[in-house]
Amino acid sequence: MATLRVGVIGIGVIATTKHIPALVKRDDVEIVALCDIEKEKAEKANKEFKLGAKIYTDYKELCADENIDVVHVCTPNPLHCPITLDALNHGKHVHCEKPLACTYADAEKMVETAKKVGKKLTSGLQWRYNPAPMEMKRMIQNGELGDVYYIKSQQLRPRRLPAYGVYTSKELNGGGVLMDGGPHSIDLAMWLTDNYDVASVRGVTFDKMKYFTEGNDLGPWDPDNFDVEDTAMAMITMKNGMMIYVETAWITNMLQEAPGVVASVAGTKAGVDMVGPGFETSVRTTKMVDGKLTTEIKTIEEPVNMNEYDINHWIDAIQNDGDPAVLPEQAAIVTKVIEAIYESARTNKTIVFD
Ligand SMILES: NC(=O)c1ccc[n+]([C@@H]2O[C@H](COP(=O)([O-])OP(=O)(O)OC[C@H]3O[C@@H](n4cnc5c(N)ncnc54)[C@H](O)[C@@H]3O)[C@@H](O)[C@H]2O)c1
Repeated sequence: MATLRVGVIGIGVIATTKHIPALVKRDDVEIVALCDIEKEKAEKANKEFKLGAKIYTDYKELCADENIDVVHVCTPNPLHCPITLDALNHGKHVHCEKPLACTYADAEKMVETAKKVGKKLTSGLQWRYNPAPMEMKRMIQNGELGDVYYIKSQQLRPRRLPAYGVYTSKELNGGGVLMDGGPHSIDLAMWLTDNYDVASVRGVTFDKMKYFTEGNDLGPWDPDNFDVEDTAMAMITMKNGMMIYVETAWITNMLQEAPGVVASVAGTKAGVDMVGPGFETSVRTTKMVDGKLTTEIKTIEEPVNMNEYDINHWIDAIQNDGDPAVLPEQAAIVTKVIEAIYESARTNKTIVFD
């Protein structure tokens, strides 16, 4: 199998904790280029991961490098679209971190361009590939839950706002928690039933907690440089009548014990949810058995590393000319929903799609 030559752009947290560690484990991948406007970040990663990669500070030069087959975009969100388009137009396959884009129009442009140039595109919506959601999806597909009519998807972090980088700037991040945890929660719920056919969205956002700076897991932030939402709730109805409720918060006094993204699913035959202590590995089923409401917890013994799953499926898709695990069309719909949540919150109206 040919070695794929990868260039990574934006050498911050996600590049150095997910992309580069998963890529270096593959025999059929060579990271040949790193790019960051802060050159020392790229140099540090180059040294730490012993890559011997070429260092760029201008993404356009990396995208134009003919020695590169695949580009991973790990920059702040507003740069996802311009960098992805540039890389695709230079004939590269592109893994773009989530959210795919800050607007649906940009996301559509990215999907269309990938099709036009005949290159693959994916986005980093890896939370769905934890063992518990995968088991829940298997049960839904087998009909074990009956008719699924309601999914609740949550990530309520008590005190975990990413105080580094640009996360609290609307201009530089495109939004707040909805652009951060939001894509995972929205995607997880839609992916569970393979239903991305949205009928309407009613959303509410809050920026109530920005002055309550005490006790954040990821360090202090500056409330005066903070113009994004810290919490968002949304009711999403699907064209088949199913409803999704999404709750996402960086900092809230509503304690959810799960540290990550969790979902609960209600079906006519049974309901399932993700429970502790593992959350990502344990599924609880609730149903009537012999006239009695019964619960059963199944723990999946072989945990999957969601980050490696995402990257491995992506590289396999290129090598075998298959579909990536996260389809770009799905990631684009996630952006469409986020955009509608903002619009609904701003106008105090339900956004209805044709
Ligand atoms: N899939 C996930 O679970 C997940 C988790 C965290 C972050 N992310 C996404 O990854 C992206 C980056 O997040 P992060 O937490 O790593 O942020 P970060 O601030 O740690 O890293 C971003 C890097 O991009 C660099 N950068 C900024 N402008 C650039 C430019 N023009 N050219 C090249 N480099 C540039 C910055 O210097 C920084 O090093 C965001 O889109 C975020 O939503 C995804």
